[in-house]
Amino acid sequence: MPKHLISVRDLSKEDIDLLRHLSKRFRGGERETLEGDVALFFLESSTRTRLSFEKACRLLGLRTYYAGRGESSIEKGESLRDTIKTLQALGFRALVLRVPFVLFPYEGYKGEEISLINAGDGTHQHPTQGLIDLFTAIEVFGSLENLKVLYIGDILHSRVFRSGAYLFGLYGAKVGVCGPKTLIPSDLSPFGVEQVFDSVDEAIEWADLCIWLRLQEERFTESYIPSKESYFLQFGLTKERYKRLKGYFMHPGPVNLYVDVDAEVVYLDKSLVLKQVEMGLYVRMAVLYWALKDG
Ligand code: CP
Repeated sequence: MPKHLISVRDLSKEDIDLLRHLSKRFRGGERETLEGDVALFFLESSTRTRLSFEKACRLLGLRTYYAGRGESSIEKGESLRDTIKTLQALGFRALVLRVPFVLFPYEGYKGEEISLINAGDGTHQHPTQGLIDLFTAIEVFGSLENLKVLYIGDILHSRVFRSGAYLFGLYGAKVGVCGPKTLIPSDLSPFGVEQVFDSVDEAIEWADLCIWLRLQEERFTESYIPSKESYFLQFGLTKERYKRLKGYFMHPGPVNLYVDVDAEVVYLDKSLVLKQVEMGLYVRMAVLYWALKDG
């Protein structure tokens, strides 16, 4: 049976270690071949996730079929269950989905012969991005035991935080958050957060690895910040803060320049942004291979 990846919480530590091993092998140039068709449904826009999944499929020998916003019947109200059954009848092996709604709880996909892979669902999960950030951090720091990982910015709307915080905790890191009170979830207990900071200047003194998040204005249902200018000054990665970073910083992309991060520091030495992008291809090859190799 094919495997599904909806949430990082569905993965065992053995699964994650296997995915890291596969990512390393693919990154080192080793190749595996799979056969069949993969549907990529992206109801939200994407550059990195969409193109790296598509390239990953092709490097594994899988054929890709893409449907973007306004191009699938999900937007006419067709249920996920019926979508999956339809794709299965057409002989697809996997459906990679990016959607503005939450895929959990959805039990209907279990037992189906098509693999469902979450490429980002609403504010819920972005499993492959969480794995990218984890594996990039392991590559840079080695052991993550007691490493201080700080998420900064729009925590409330971040599926990257919800996937990554769990994974970092699983590997022994301490997770902190910093952002405007309006953009921090009222209950952080499910995410294993050990530190909450009001001041980003204090927070970056604490952190070994800072992960700036994108301010997700498209999900704002009210006015969470006074202005983007004041948000950048209070919480953004300015040139001055960049100099004071103890370790490295990440950003999942796309970066809002001069809102999340100053344009002049995005690709400087302490930035892992492009390492994350590069890792994305191999993580997605690993996830597809893991999901489909026994299917
Ligand atoms: N990080 C991320 O998911 O980027 P895209 O929206 O460009 O895929």
